[in-house]
Amino acid sequence: MRIDPKELSKSQAYKLLISALIPRPIALVSTINEFGVVNVAPFSFFGGVSSKPPVIYISIDRKRDGDKKDTLKNIELNGDFVVNIVTEEIAEKMNICAVDFPYGISEAEIAGLTPVKSEIVKSPRILESPINLECKVVKIIEIGDSPNSVVFGEIVMFHVKDEIFEDEVVNPKKLKVVGRLGGNFYTFVDNVFEMKKIKL
Ligand SMILES: Cc1cc2nc3c(=O)[nH]c(=O)nc-3n(C[C@H](O)[C@H](O)[C@H](O)COP(=O)(O)O)c2cc1C
Repeated sequence: MRIDPKELSKSQAYKLLISALIPRPIALVSTINEFGVVNVAPFSFFGGVSSKPPVIYISIDRKRDGDKKDTLKNIELNGDFVVNIVTEEIAEKMNICAVDFPYGISEAEIAGLTPVKSEIVKSPRILESPINLECKVVKIIEIGDSPNSVVFGEIVMFHVKDEIFEDEVVNPKKLKVVGRLGGNFYTFVDNVFEMKKIKL
């Protein structure tokens, strides 16, 4: 099967892409607006960019009406955000946060998530997530017709719950992370195997 993206609608390309790039980690992004209302929303166009300094990206599409999503508005306002990794325990709460509530309504409150003060950035972190990445914006690039705003954030503080942190890394068996697949499907990381690097 050969598929020319020029012949696909935006929605067809989106469905194909998100079913092919699997599984994807989910960044539950917490931000704050000018009135102190906490906004929380999931983003799975999310990944690592560099290690020194540690930089990640999230890609934020426009709303159907062309308006900027609340997360992007807040990121542009404060120049920071927090990525909270989504685990089994908070998967359903994450799904509530994906609802397009009006600007100024706190998804955290509706979903029952607890925002707590971050150490360095203005955006709060979410207590129920075992990994919080406090990020400062490095750069925002616009890509595509929508456009998508690709936000690059430098991690200025990692918070990792002690019980999942072993020998300087996160134990994947203890994290119980949730991955996004295509459509409405998700997955757990419950079948870990090791493959040693080949040395010449
Ligand atoms: C698991 C999941 C992953 C998502 N990933 C993205 C994404 O990468 N980019 C995006 O623009 N929207 C994504 N969405 C949709 C946003 O979460 C949704 O538009 C949300 O209402 C935005 O909230 P905000 O306006 O408060 O920022 C995703 C939704 C879900 C459930």
